[in-house]
Amino acid sequence: MTIKTILTEPNKILREVSKLVEKVGKEEQKLMDDMLETMYAANGIGLAAIQIGVPKRIIVIDISKDQYKKEPRYFVNPVIKNKDPQKATYQEGCLSVPNQFAEIDRPSQCDVEYLDYNGEKQILHADGLLATCIQHEMDHLEGILFIDYLSKLKKSMIIKKLSKQKKSSEALVI
Ligand code: NI
Repeated sequence: MTIKTILTEPNKILREVSKLVEKVGKEEQKLMDDMLETMYAANGIGLAAIQIGVPKRIIVIDISKDQYKKEPRYFVNPVIKNKDPQKATYQEGCLSVPNQFAEIDRPSQCDVEYLDYNGEKQILHADGLLATCIQHEMDHLEGILFIDYLSKLKKSMIIKKLSKQKKSSEALVI
């Protein structure tokens, strides 16, 4: 397993729409292993392939927060079937939007159909944090970030901050 570099906003690649996976093979499983390793190393609870620059419809999630009892979940080609009209609000962050957080409303429950690590078709009913996390990660597959739900002003302030952070970290490398 390899820890990959996580792309951060602003970055055009993060805005790409990811492509359907035709078959879950060795290459996709290796990608999922790397994604999980990368996510754990960054202390995240979810990661989409596009965040490491791979435009495939794959996400990994582990909301267990217990380093001794990991519960990795793999979703290939996830599709949301039912969304609860009731909303839930969570303070969200994103590994591609470092150190920025905002309260976002999303359907509180959803059913998601997907292929698992072995390419088997699954359907999962999710609620609570898992439902929010799945929807956040699935947004990445459409090139959407949580800051897109904020007001124009708030969003542009965050992007400005991130651009500044990026410039100063690049300066250190030089
Ligand atoms: Ni994210």
